[in-house]
Amino acid sequence: MNIEPFVHRLLEWYPLHKRDLPWRNTNNPYIIWLSEIILQQTRVAQGLPYFERYLKYYPTLKDLALAPSEEVMRLWQGLGYYSRARNLHDCAKDVYYNYGGHFPEDYAGLLKLKGVGSYTAAAIASFAFDEAVAVVDGNVFRVLSRYFGIPTDIASGKGKKEFEHLANKLIPHDRPGEFNQAIMEFGALQCVPKNPDCENCPLKAGCFASHKSMVHELPFKSKKLKIRDRYFQYYHIVCGDYTVVKERKGGDIWQGLFDFPMKENEKISENFENAYPIFEDNSVFGTITVIHEEHVYKHILTHQRIFANFVKFVVDESFRSGIESWATGKNYHLVDSGKLENLAKPRLILKYLNEEK
Ligand code: ADE
Repeated sequence: MNIEPFVHRLLEWYPLHKRDLPWRNTNNPYIIWLSEIILQQTRVAQGLPYFERYLKYYPTLKDLALAPSEEVMRLWQGLGYYSRARNLHDCAKDVYYNYGGHFPEDYAGLLKLKGVGSYTAAAIASFAFDEAVAVVDGNVFRVLSRYFGIPTDIASGKGKKEFEHLANKLIPHDRPGEFNQAIMEFGALQCVPKNPDCENCPLKAGCFASHKSMVHELPFKSKKLKIRDRYFQYYHIVCGDYTVVKERKGGDIWQGLFDFPMKENEKISENFENAYPIFEDNSVFGTITVIHEEHVYKHILTHQRIFANFVKFVVDESFRSGIESWATGKNYHLVDSGKLENLAKPRLILKYLNEEK
């Protein structure tokens, strides 16, 4: 395998074509980490305003670590996967309190941080600390599999190892960060998934896929079983010691288990004000205290991923008979805490109840 022309041409191409992105003009690990966490979630164009907003609110790691978590979560709004925002905040606090405010300065140390996987650790280690450890993301898979003609399934553990091994052989020890940026940028701008402009590609001469007309066959990714995403909006209605539950009927998951009244949506509900159409006539319940749970619970089943959020309604005890007749009319049940404890419930509901206590 002749790796020299690949590395050489890539590093020649990069300074001429790279986008001017704000996280590229720094070796500050906080800024690099922040950008990579956001870019795991979204594309550059959508991620940029989030990156800028976070940096404006929190110019330093300390600012982020000491920020109120509601604010950190609110700034994430629109990106989805709120657990990433929570991890972002937890990681900042971890570094601030347990590492004296300084990120670990090598790959192995970075890997120990919450929400930092092999890709992010390699990115920070190489961009901020010049460690020669290769990043492997979707762009890197594509560039390497096409250029070197590697047919291994990129969805497999074996494939990931093979590509990581190759990328780590290629990475020049004197310019690791630049090489990592270059290969990702090359995948993002030149060696794109669909209809790449191979005629005008500086790597054409040595490219396996181009010679063999296999650009559209590589990289190879086996089809995973189709996973269906579902979005549940739960209503946790509590009246004194009593809770409204619903028995799940046939034809769907969790048949015979008890959960709460709920509505299934096309996407995760972020607008909680419109989230409770279940009380058409809330006069029977008097004043209701509403508690929003911003946390989205992700629950994985074999062929489904459930994203659930919960709104809790606390109804005054004096309205118990009203709640009871409303519940009965809807085929729900009002159960006391002892009964609730004993009912068979989906793990998702158990998890929520345990965390909610
Ligand atoms: N995607 C993920 N990390 C990136 C980076 N550092 N620059 C551009 N795109 C990216």
